[in-house]
Amino acid sequence: MTQNPQISAEPVLSCRGLTVRFGGLVAVRGVDLDVHGATIHALIGPNGAGKSTLINCLTGFVKASGGETLLAGRPVAGKAAYEVAELGMARTFQNIRLFGGMTVLENVLVGCHRNLERSILDLLFRRAKAAEEEARFIDQARELLAFVGLNGRDGQLAGSLAYGHQRRLEIARALMLAPSVLLLDEPMAGMNVVEKAELAELISQIRADGTAILLVEHDVEIVRSLSDRVTVLHHGEKIADGPPDGIFADARVQSAYLGREVTHAEG
Ligand SMILES: Nc1ncnc2c1ncn2[C@@H]1O[C@H](COP(=O)(O)OP(=O)(O)OP(=O)(O)O)[C@@H](O)[C@H]1O
Ligand SMILES: [Mg+2]
Repeated sequence: MTQNPQISAEPVLSCRGLTVRFGGLVAVRGVDLDVHGATIHALIGPNGAGKSTLINCLTGFVKASGGETLLAGRPVAGKAAYEVAELGMARTFQNIRLFGGMTVLENVLVGCHRNLERSILDLLFRRAKAAEEEARFIDQARELLAFVGLNGRDGQLAGSLAYGHQRRLEIARALMLAPSVLLLDEPMAGMNVVEKAELAELISQIRADGTAILLVEHDVEIVRSLSDRVTVLHHGEKIADGPPDGIFADARVQSAYLGREVTHAEG
């Protein structure tokens, strides 16, 4: 996969020494990470390792206690979550966050709400242009819905979608930002084997478009087959980083992630 010409030499997203404290608890401790364009970078580790906190911090939902985050080489420290999103970092949440009482199409359009606000102002002053812009967003949203496999469901209430489809809808909404980095926090949680395989295919397609993907996933087989690189967190610290094959052979990873105690055999 390293032969992929789209993989950028410079990371799209990186952090150095990133630390997040919640009172006395250090949830993320001095983490360095580089995520490159057109790669799937898995972030793994046992429950409570700090994966979601790291994503929340990278995307501006949680404030860093130390360290820095760079997007395309530029610091994003102190920026609000919506500003970070506008700069090209889009995400989904471990616990699905959709507007259940709104339609599928409306949920995707929320992904570009700031642009739409602008278009509403335009509507007052320059109706024709605004209508054109709005129509363009709607076309774009429909294209993305088809891309994630939700064709023909525009008018359905988001809350009435099957669970797996809600996960796909969240991805469509994130893609509405045309992100350079997409951060997916356990998008396959609760899915069956077939649904997981289908979603893995969709994530591969997003990578093929050049997007960098940071993927939190517990299923070792999925991580092994899908990712180009893996970072392992344990108690908030990065304990390993590298291609998937080497990662799962690492004794520290086996001990931490697979919950096995690795004892050095005597004799
Ligand atoms: N807002 C918060 N306030 C206080 N502690 C928090 C907060 N969010 C997370 N934590 C704690 O930080 C640690 C890391 O949690 P986090 O949710 O990042 O882990 P995770 O790796 O995503 O786990 P999981 O696989 O269960 O999703 C845990 O000990 C958790 O209880
Ligand atoms: Mg989590």
